[in-house]
Amino acid sequence: MSDPVSTLRVEGLTVRAESLELVREVSFTIAPGERVGLIGESGSGKSLTALSLMGLLPEAVTASGTARLGDRDLVGVPENRVKDLRGRDVSMVFQEPMTALNPLMRVGAQVAEVMTLHGTPRHEARERAVAMLERVRLPEPGQVARAYPHQLSGGQRQRVMLAIALANGPGLLICDEPTTALDVTVQKQMLELIAEVAPALLFITHDLAVVASVCERVLVMYGGRVVESGPIREVFTRPRHRYTEGLLAASKLTPRGTRLPTVQGSVPSAGQFPDGCVFRNRCPHATPTCETAPALTGDGHAFACWHPAD
Ligand SMILES: Nc1ncnc2c1ncn2[C@@H]1O[C@H](COP(=O)(O)OP(=O)(O)OP(=O)(O)O)[C@@H](O)[C@H]1O
Ligand SMILES: [Mg+2]
Repeated sequence: MSDPVSTLRVEGLTVRAESLELVREVSFTIAPGERVGLIGESGSGKSLTALSLMGLLPEAVTASGTARLGDRDLVGVPENRVKDLRGRDVSMVFQEPMTALNPLMRVGAQVAEVMTLHGTPRHEARERAVAMLERVRLPEPGQVARAYPHQLSGGQRQRVMLAIALANGPGLLICDEPTTALDVTVQKQMLELIAEVAPALLFITHDLAVVASVCERVLVMYGGRVVESGPIREVFTRPRHRYTEGLLAASKLTPRGTRLPTVQGSVPSAGQFPDGCVFRNRCPHATPTCETAPALTGDGHAFACWHPAD
């Protein structure tokens, strides 16, 4: 179990696949109890950022830089030691629970198994598994523990995944589009539950309204970089980076009556982003200055843009 008062500090996280830089120099912190959203269009590097913190990057993809949760390193950990961290210090809930659960094993046993893997005696793990199912507010947890995944609804399976993720008391929970596959009412309940039980949360989604309801802070990613970050209220009411501005304008969160600028073009594929500001080939405000990369600057509300919105 990790120290519950540990802060996650990510510094200069860079993810490469051969010569391609898929995530570049990403830095952020998440304090205990803090809920941080990670948003950006498809292909911006959100999942790779999350997977590097879990030691779950695909074959031939490597991470450099540092990520520390309290006194533990999460990046650059040898493969034989990464299993100790995964699920104990950092846990992750994915979109599709059916692929993550073992269809042939009762769900109570699956929750218990992640505890025994990290050293909890078997009999104790069984009891605690039922308690975990209760904690994620599954009614009749004893009965659910004896069920197989296919006997549960999608929402119940996602709660089981959350119980598994929380079983060893991790210091950080990462959710990557955890509720996209659920219907609206179930999604709302699940989001409330995640917000309540997460020790500290990195929450990835395309849905800006969801991020606004779950998180206090947001990181906006584009082209493998964090281009803007800050308190949700500030970033969403007064975006400074032209990418964030376009992203918000394309969503329903923009105040009514404002003219909607749109983000032109589409996200380049990995390796096709321009030098300098990664957004400059789609930005209506770009000038030759933007050929030099802007740094992410600002206290609290930070942005990397030469021509920020007012
Ligand atoms: N194994 C890999 N080898 C090479 N490129 C990869 C690999 N995995 C991902 N990429 C590329 O890295 C970029 C970032 O991918 P990532 O999955 O982090 O995006 P994302 O922000 O999570 O997108 P989405 O919102 O669609 O989930 C994409 O351009 C993707 O094609
Ligand atoms: Mg993704």
